[in-house]
Amino acid sequence: MGRRKRRVRTQVAIIGAGPAGLFLAHLLARAGVDAVVVERRDREYVEARVRAGVLEQVTVDLMDRLGLGKRMHREGLVHEGTILAHDGGMFRIDMKGLTGGSTVMVYGQQEVMRDLFDAGEERGVQVVFDAEDVALHGLDGSSPHITWRKDGVEQLLDCDFVAGCDGYHGVSRGSMPESVRREYERVYPFGWLGILADVPPANHELIYCNHERGFALASMRSATRSRYYLQCPLDDRLEDWSDDRFWDELCLRLGDRAAAGVTRGPSFEKSIAPLRSFVSEPMRWGRLFLAGDAAHIVPPTGAKGLNLAASDVVFLAEALEQHYLEHSDAGIDGYSARALARVWKAERFSWWFTGLTHRFPETGPLEHRLQVAELDYIRDSRAAQTTLAENYVGLPIS
Ligand code: FAD
Ligand code: DHB
Repeated sequence: MGRRKRRVRTQVAIIGAGPAGLFLAHLLARAGVDAVVVERRDREYVEARVRAGVLEQVTVDLMDRLGLGKRMHREGLVHEGTILAHDGGMFRIDMKGLTGGSTVMVYGQQEVMRDLFDAGEERGVQVVFDAEDVALHGLDGSSPHITWRKDGVEQLLDCDFVAGCDGYHGVSRGSMPESVRREYERVYPFGWLGILADVPPANHELIYCNHERGFALASMRSATRSRYYLQCPLDDRLEDWSDDRFWDELCLRLGDRAAAGVTRGPSFEKSIAPLRSFVSEPMRWGRLFLAGDAAHIVPPTGAKGLNLAASDVVFLAEALEQHYLEHSDAGIDGYSARALARVWKAERFSWWFTGLTHRFPETGPLEHRLQVAELDYIRDSRAAQTTLAENYVGLPIS
């Protein structure tokens, strides 16, 4: 145990410097509300994590509102549609046409984090890295505080509120008593094997593919960098997946037409991610708020995780601004219900899109025929395409 050395004060203590924590810190800084972000890892680690790639309009708007959109608009790729494929057939969802003009932006989470960190340094956003054993205290009273250890020295931060933005494995959610929490969870019986390679993408738009051997996704980070995913058993090991095996399997699942666009090359990142649907309610208890993956996880199909983290903290920043600037707690009291209403719709969409496109070990040929029937229906129905498009580009903030 180190010596208790430093005791400082802020208005909002933010746990975690992922997208939720840093977007919130920027929003509060802009509103003149004091905040300190406390992060377990270092900046390089947080920035290097290869994760999300698709930003909804809501997230693009947030980047712009914070004055962070310049590089994103220069280097990001605006996508007006996406492709669904199965059994060699393909069709396009015209997202822009079906939604009255909405699009998504392909811009990696790593780039978003870099923009947030760079601007944070210029704007005096305070981030403490390498904070060990972060703990939350007094959340049900009027003067909470958090503690951690850094370089062997105990630190204490007094605050008015704590924002738990520390992801699925963080400490914040567990600081709410079990008696007030209700958790909903489904763990899927497969994972996503993802690679990054510096080769041009197979197609200028993403391809989501249902194949009898499992789901495949052709995505990208830029005109010269491809991101591909394959559904795989959870017990597969990375050593089992040479690049050659990955490319062969990808081309098989994508079918001849899409595979014709695939350029093979060495991968420089390869990982297996589990898939989970998870929501913990409520998202506020006393002076603790949860935001982003700390409160909910979606399976990645449909690319909603980062975008939900962004919409949560838009709601939370509004609530805190109301508290400090208008002396009203209406936003604080309504935060959990407002955020969860959007979260559950994204959970539903991600669960549905996963079910439509993946092979489930417990299901048989009947379920596959039903998936194909639904894909055929979507191909031929403007109403069904509109539903998919509206959800894919992101439901409005309300
Ligand atoms: P995190 O990014 O997990 O950040 C939490 C932070 O808290 C971390 O920096 C962590 O180090 C820190 N922390 C944890 N515990 C502690 C502690 N005890 N004390 C202090 N700090 C702590 N989403 C999309 O929207 N689009 C996509 O295309 C997409 N694709 C994905 C692909 C993959 C392979 C994966 C894995 C995820 C994908 N996601 C996608 C999801 C997205 O990456 C997450 O939803 C997003 O990172 C959530 O942000 P967050 O800030 O809530 O949590
Ligand atoms: C990516 C991830 C997704 O989950 C998705 O639906 C689309 C793209 C990506 O990482 O590029």
